[in-house]
Amino acid sequence: MSLLIENAATVATPRGTAAAAGPRQADVHVLRGAVVRCEGASIRFVGDAAEHRRRFPAPDETLDAAGGTVIPGFVDPHTHLPFAGYREDEFDRRLAGESYAEIAAAGGGIVATVAATRRAGVDELLALTLARLDRQLLLGTTTTEAKSGYGLEREAELKQLRVLREASRRHPVEIVPTAMPAHEVPPEWRRDPDGYVRLVTEEIHPAIAAEGLARGVDVFCERGVFSPEQTRRLLAAAPGYGWRIHLHADELCDLGGAALAAELGAASASHLLHVSDAGIAALARAGVVAIVLPGVSFFLRDRFAPVRKLVEAGVPVALATDCNPGSSHTESMPAILAHACLGAGLSAEEALVAATLNAAAVLGLAERIGSVETGKQADLTVLDAPSFKHLVYHFGVNLVRHVVKAGEVVVRDGRLAAAAASTRSAS
Ligand code: NIG
Ligand code: FE
Repeated sequence: MSLLIENAATVATPRGTAAAAGPRQADVHVLRGAVVRCEGASIRFVGDAAEHRRRFPAPDETLDAAGGTVIPGFVDPHTHLPFAGYREDEFDRRLAGESYAEIAAAGGGIVATVAATRRAGVDELLALTLARLDRQLLLGTTTTEAKSGYGLEREAELKQLRVLREASRRHPVEIVPTAMPAHEVPPEWRRDPDGYVRLVTEEIHPAIAAEGLARGVDVFCERGVFSPEQTRRLLAAAPGYGWRIHLHADELCDLGGAALAAELGAASASHLLHVSDAGIAALARAGVVAIVLPGVSFFLRDRFAPVRKLVEAGVPVALATDCNPGSSHTESMPAILAHACLGAGLSAEEALVAATLNAAAVLGLAERIGSVETGKQADLTVLDAPSFKHLVYHFGVNLVRHVVKAGEVVVRDGRLAAAAASTRSAS
């Protein structure tokens, strides 16, 4: 099966199979008047339309980009998708001046979502997750990471991860699951946090590994949550399980989380609002990708991570939604790109690389996805705009016209295509 995307004003893409750092973070290749030919799940040709006509037979199918822009499908490398319940009451309280930390101390925050997620049945959690995946796809995301961490007990963590496994069977968005029972100390372990650390390392992580439910592991290393020393214990077995290590680091204060991520050979360190210069240098030396979450800064009306310092120090920067009900309730990568540029200070080029190639590198997938290049998987988003810069310049609207996942059209003219809908109800 071959598919030709034609009539694009531009194709805009990073290039390569590894995270781009420093000046390469802004290296977006823009081709004018190019076509993209997909064969099966892969990209076969990107280039001049006349050359395509000379070299290839007519395609089985065409997709009209209608003067728009082809970019790689977004990769969202940090989300908390399988959650139940909402916290708009907290949103009101924050607008009235209460802080996220004050609300959490008063019994709100993560534990409110834990209670709702523990209560939710599998079907309800699956339906909520599939609806979020639909929104992601309609906004141009073709691969997403998704964490557990609203269960905080063995069965509820397994429930979240089994829901992700089922969702990935039914939905075209590719899901990379991460085990995060160390997202918070659950209320019943507040008096014995080390006891909870033991429960995680001795029971919950092994149970997740035994079912093969995760490809990575994450820990919220933060004052009042898990200390660096507990984080080390929580992650000691990760290499044995074949899990990539991710950290929520230096979000509310500088606990040395970035340096710890470097020491542990982590694939990524997220948040980093309070990262120190020494932490930045450690990330750069170790090649850890910094996941910047400007949606959180916007949503909590907090400072932004020091993205200019990170880029100038040679740390590869990725962007993610952090989609969760408390600190960044959005599935929209275009919204994140806008905040990354207008709030945090990335250029449009740096933001595009951060949301595609570098995000793929966080998940260990940069050899297969993250750019529009011959040989890569055909994961493509077609924007209703003549330049990729409209993603940030024309903010607050959905410019996504078509989405192709592994060579198949899954969003057409802004709507989920039949292919996507039928995958959804297949099993
Ligand atoms: O990544 N930082 C910790 N966890 C989430 C927020 C979770 C919540 O508020 O429910 C985050 O921002
Ligand atoms: Fe998070």
